[in-house]
Amino acid sequence: MPETILEVKNLSVSYGAVRALQNLTLQVNKGELVSLCGVNGAGKSTTLKAIAGVLKPTAGEIILHGKPIAGRTPEQVHKQGVALVPEGREIFPTLTVAENLRLGAFGRYDAKRFAADLEDMFTLFPILRERYHQAGGLLSGGEQQMLAIARGLVSHPDLLMLDEPSLGLSPNMVDQIFQLIAGLKERGITILLVEQNAERALQLADHAYLLSTGSCVFAGKPADMAREDVARIYLGGGERA
Ligand SMILES: Nc1ncnc2c1ncn2[C@@H]1O[C@H](COP(=O)(O)OP(=O)(O)O)[C@@H](O)[C@H]1O
Ligand SMILES: [Mg+2]
Repeated sequence: MPETILEVKNLSVSYGAVRALQNLTLQVNKGELVSLCGVNGAGKSTTLKAIAGVLKPTAGEIILHGKPIAGRTPEQVHKQGVALVPEGREIFPTLTVAENLRLGAFGRYDAKRFAADLEDMFTLFPILRERYHQAGGLLSGGEQQMLAIARGLVSHPDLLMLDEPSLGLSPNMVDQIFQLIAGLKERGITILLVEQNAERALQLADHAYLLSTGSCVFAGKPADMAREDVARIYLGGGERA
């Protein structure tokens, strides 16, 4: 039996009267890459924010390592091993790359380990070594995304959640980001990935969930999602999944 890292059961989230997510159930096992798909407004970011403790669910359970975490603060959830790399990167533009990375380890900071972690991040993202003392805001979009992912990784998360990591990047940078995600998966890092680029995400995924207007319309193997035609129907435009 694979070890279960995250279980979400019947999760619902509302923004006032707007019901953004209804009854979502999903599971992420250790070492898996799980892809959460859906068009704009489907409820993907809402799901990740609820898991991260940024939004309070109106109903349902979020279980991490077998323990319920719904209602905990983002700091508590982070400390428990969940790192969210948010949509739009949200790095601190006036802080240096170094300071941004240090913040990522906040709450799980281990001075002895941090130096080694930094070296590891520089191996994964050589550009961050070059930019180490520069303000985050001076980095290109792709570099900021790398910084945001590195900031998530320095906390040694048990679950890394990536929200639209390739959004707004050049085709070459999109390739680099997907290669990087493939590399993280090879390292055994457990990933919950939200991507508009469903085709690329599904190539890497062990399991996939498809959201449409806040409800789950498919859960299963990526190949079945393509086969059952749900991707074409719910991702629209006649695109392939
Ligand atoms: N802060 C907010 N206030 C009100 N409605 C919101 C807010 N954020 C998102 N929504 C709505 O919730 C739904 C899901 O949004 P979101 O989770 O951001 O979708 P996705 O990430 O899949 O594009 C959408 O209808 C969106 O308009
Ligand atoms: Mg979103």
